[in-house]
Amino acid sequence: MAANSLTVTDNRTGKVYELPIEQGAIRAMDLRQIKASEDDFGLLSYDPAFMNTASCRSAITYIDGDRGILRYRGYSIEQLAERATYLETAYLLLHGELPTSAQLDDWVYQITHHTWIHENMKKVMEGFHYDAHPMGMIVLMVGALSTFYPEAKNGIDGETRKLQIIRLIGKMPTLAAFAYRHNLGMPYAYPDNHLSYTGNFLNMLFKATEVKYEPHPTLERALEVLFILHADHEQNCSTNAVRSVGSSRVDPYSAVAAGVAALYGPLHGGANEAVLRMLGSIGSRDKIPQFIKQVKEGKAKLMGFGHRVYKNYDPRAKIIKRMADETYEVTRPSPLLPVAQELERIALEDEYFVTRKLYPNVDFYSGMIYESLGFPVEMFPVLFAIPRTAGWLAQWQEMIEDPEQKIARPRQVYTGPAQRDYVPLGMRG
Ligand code: ACO
Repeated sequence: MAANSLTVTDNRTGKVYELPIEQGAIRAMDLRQIKASEDDFGLLSYDPAFMNTASCRSAITYIDGDRGILRYRGYSIEQLAERATYLETAYLLLHGELPTSAQLDDWVYQITHHTWIHENMKKVMEGFHYDAHPMGMIVLMVGALSTFYPEAKNGIDGETRKLQIIRLIGKMPTLAAFAYRHNLGMPYAYPDNHLSYTGNFLNMLFKATEVKYEPHPTLERALEVLFILHADHEQNCSTNAVRSVGSSRVDPYSAVAAGVAALYGPLHGGANEAVLRMLGSIGSRDKIPQFIKQVKEGKAKLMGFGHRVYKNYDPRAKIIKRMADETYEVTRPSPLLPVAQELERIALEDEYFVTRKLYPNVDFYSGMIYESLGFPVEMFPVLFAIPRTAGWLAQWQEMIEDPEQKIARPRQVYTGPAQRDYVPLGMRG
């Protein structure tokens, strides 16, 4: 019997099976041989919400949720946030290694020169109401990009794929800024190739009558760090959506649109928006005990707390908390900051949260920085979608290249009626 194996006895038949263990996992397909009778389909594993199922092998992002560790391609998030740029991080995620100086120059040049969108995209944007949620606009606009680049249907080919990746990373800030200005009724500001990725994004958002927009270096860097922290997070809900939709071999624009749609949800990328709304509804520090009581009674949720993987302080939340102070030296701090700080203090000491290992996640403080940078809450998930595009594409690319991957198609445990005869309308009920 192999040491690295699992012995299973099927008590229905008394048969014993030996299942190999590889990298801490058994293959679900190895369960199929376990049958109660000849015509039995074979044993399935039932795992709603993928609580304990690895859907892929991945070499991109490592998380140790118990110890609060996050690494991209082996590099700690703390070092990247301190020393790298977002585009350098995006290159790392997609290529597996940090770029050389020449590679980085070329990468930045390519992204910078693919930031413009076709003028017809503006007509698509103009179809939206003035108060359309920007995330809803981005879902559609990213999907619409696929119609402008029909060659993306061959996205599994090397050079074509590379071009679509560059286009998507380049154009996401443009789509986001156009959606923002559409809501405000302001004319769109076009990309400025002389600015950094985040500097140009600030330019497209906030440029008014000045001839040249000069981003504040502290704010430019704050956005850069926020983008690095959000660039990837292994198999989360939206990444799983991108991989799953992409497994049908649809173009990457459509796959990324699925990722944006998943990120829109309040339990995922919509959480930072929900945090600000929650803090706003609490209003002041004296109302916190009453709110905590409601959470414990199951009548409310403490948004920005808890995580499927982290059962410790989210390492990204730590970095954001530190960075918030630097940002507030330049901007007006959020008036909700004292409420957030007190809420965190109380929750971290409360038995309900301690026993459930509920700690602040990345969304708890990011919203307050975004607010102090001048963003309306509706833009918060958009600010998540822009940097996550690099992670989605790295994961999509890895899935395309993985010979073990096929079209994603889970099994089900059927619980409906057994076969029955059709009842004519007049004979029902
Ligand atoms: N507030 C109050 N109670 C909570 C919270 C919360 N934020 N999160 C979890 N719990 C409780 C659950 O009610 C449950 O309690 P029980 O055991 O008494 O039933 C227990 O903690 C375990 O929670 P689950 O729901 O099983 O945890 P799961 O891993 O399924 O959910 C999730 C993770 C969705 C992130 C959850 O913690 C949550 O809804 N948090 C608030 C939303 C949020 O901040 N999302 C952002 C996540 S980070 C990101 O997407 C970037």
